[in-house]
Amino acid sequence: MCGIVGFAGARRASDIIYNGLKQLEYRGYDSAGIATLSDGKISALKRRGRVSVLESEIEKLGGVTGIGHTRWATHGKPSDENAHPHVFGKFAIVHNGIIENYSDLKEKYFGGVKFNSDTDSEIIVRLLDKFYGGDLVGALKKISLILKGSYAVAVICADFEGIAVLKRNNPAIIGYGDGENFAASDAPALAGLCSEISVLDDGDIALITKDGVNIFDENLQGVVRERLVNLATPASLDLGGCPHYMLKEIREVPASVERTRLAYLTVESKVKEVLRGVKRVIITGCGTAYNSGLVAKRYIESFVKIPAETEIAGEFRYKNPVITPETAVIAISQSGETADTVEAAKLAVSCGAKVVAVTNAPYSQLTRIADVVVPVGAGSEICVAATKSYTGQIAALYLIAGTLAGIDASEKLLKIPKLCKETLEHIDIDTLADMCARSGGVYFLGRDIDYAVALEGSLKLKEISYVPSEGYPAGELKHGTLALIDIKTVAVVIITDERLAGKSENAVEQVLSRKGKVAVISNVAGIEKRLEGRAEVIKIPACDEFLSPLLSAIAVQLLAYKTALLLDRDPDKPRNLAKSVTVE
Ligand code: F6R
Repeated sequence: MCGIVGFAGARRASDIIYNGLKQLEYRGYDSAGIATLSDGKISALKRRGRVSVLESEIEKLGGVTGIGHTRWATHGKPSDENAHPHVFGKFAIVHNGIIENYSDLKEKYFGGVKFNSDTDSEIIVRLLDKFYGGDLVGALKKISLILKGSYAVAVICADFEGIAVLKRNNPAIIGYGDGENFAASDAPALAGLCSEISVLDDGDIALITKDGVNIFDENLQGVVRERLVNLATPASLDLGGCPHYMLKEIREVPASVERTRLAYLTVESKVKEVLRGVKRVIITGCGTAYNSGLVAKRYIESFVKIPAETEIAGEFRYKNPVITPETAVIAISQSGETADTVEAAKLAVSCGAKVVAVTNAPYSQLTRIADVVVPVGAGSEICVAATKSYTGQIAALYLIAGTLAGIDASEKLLKIPKLCKETLEHIDIDTLADMCARSGGVYFLGRDIDYAVALEGSLKLKEISYVPSEGYPAGELKHGTLALIDIKTVAVVIITDERLAGKSENAVEQVLSRKGKVAVISNVAGIEKRLEGRAEVIKIPACDEFLSPLLSAIAVQLLAYKTALLLDRDPDKPRNLAKSVTVE
C-alpha cells in the first residue's frame, strides 16, 4: 500500500529509484514521483498514473541522493497535486500510511493556510519545516510525538546529503550496498541492488548516507538492527516467459505447495510445542487469506475435533472477542503486513493466546509478533491478486491441522504437486471464461469445503475482471438469491465432495430450470454424463476430499485470469487495488 524507495550513493539517484518503484508497483499505482537532491537543491517530478509516466522525464533529475513513491490513494484523489513527494521549504517527503489526526494538526499549527494537496501526508513536510532548527533527527522525533496513525516516511533535506526514514506501524527496510545505501517499503525494490537488509522497528529514525547508516530508537539511542539476507532477487521478479505475473504465479502453485510442505518440516516441532493443550482455534486474515482460513476451519474441526472459527481480521480486532490462554489464533497473511491482521494478532497476544503466523514474508511484522511462524513457500508474489500464496496457505494450514491431530499430513500432501501439474496441463477453461465475460453476473456455489473455494473463486473473478460475482453455499440459493438467476447469469458450481455431490447437483438443476447457464468444476465420477449438453463440465483430478481445494483453486484462478483477458483488463494490476494493505 504505497511503495517508497530512497537512495544515497554515487550513481544517479533517479534511475535507481525509478527501477525500485517499478518493482513496488504492486503496492499501488495511482501516481508516482521522485525527488532528488543536488548541490543542496531539491528537484521533484510527480505525475498521476503508473510509474512509467515518469520515465521520459527522470533524466531531468540530477543528484545522487533521492526518494520516490508509488501511490495507492487514501486521502485525496489520484492527481498530480496529490502525488508524492510533497515538497516544502528545505524538505521533500514520501509517505506510506495514514496520518489520522492530520486535520487537527493542520488546524492547530497552520490555521487557515491552504496546503498544496488534499492528502494527509502533506502535514508531515509542513511540520518538518516548522520544527526544524538545523537538527533533522530532533525535528523527526518531534513530529513523531504528535503524529497519530501509521507511517513509513522517507525524507530528503537540503542541508543533509542523505535520506532520513521515520517508521511506525508501516514497513520500512534499510538496504546495505557498496558505497551506497537504500531505504524501501519492501525487499523487491532492492532486488539485485543489495544482498543485506535490516527491518526498522516502530519508532526508529534512520539516517542513511552513501557511507553508512545510523539508526536511533524511540529514545534516540543509537541501535544496530539485525542484518538479514535480502531474499528478493532479480530472478524472482522475472516473468518467466509468461505474459503476466498472474499466469506465472498460478503455474507456480505446485512448487508453492511442495516448498510449503518442505519448509513445514523445519517448524513442525515448534508448532507442536506452541499448540500443546490448545482447546479452541480462531483463524483470522483478510480477503484471500481469510478464505484460506475457511478451508482451515474444516481441517481443524474434522481432524482435531475442537472448535475452530474463522474471523475477518478487520472485524475480529474490534468486536471484543473472547480469547483465553487456551485459544490458539492462527493469523494468515501473504504479506505479513496487513494492518488488520497484524492488529488482530497483537490483540491475541495481549489476551495470552498462542499466535501462529502463516505468512509468505519472512521478515514481516506478523513474524515478529507470533509464537511460531509457519512459512508459506510461495516465493515472491507480484500480481496483486493472490494465487500461489492462497494454495501455499492451504497447504500450511493442512499441515498445522495434521500436527494438532497427530496425523502425518505431509505424507498426504506429497502427491498434490503432481496433481496440480496435471490440472494445469489438462484444464480447459476457455469456454467458461467466455461465458463469464459475456454474463451479467457469476455465482460461485459449493457446499462445505467447496463453498470455501467458491468464495475465493468469486473474489478472484470480481477483483480482476470486474464482473459482478458472489459466492454462495449451494443450498442457500433457493432462499432468495435464485430470484437473480436469469438467462444472463452464470453459476459455477464446485463439486468435489462425493458425499455432497447429489445435493450440489440439485443447485445445478435449480439454476438450469431458471434458464441460467451452469458450469461445474468437479472431480466426481460420472458427472459429465449426468450433465451432458446441459452444463459445461471442467474436470479436475480426483484426490483426497480435503485436498481438493488445491486443485479447484487452480481452476477458479485460471478462470478469473482468462475472463480478465477477454475483457481487456490488466490482471496484474486491477483498478483501485494494491497488494499489502497496510492501512485500515
Ligand atoms: C485477493 C487478495 C487480497 C489479500 C488481502 C490480504 O486476491 O490478494 O484479498 O488476500 O488483502 O492480504 P495479505 O494476505 O497480505 O494479508
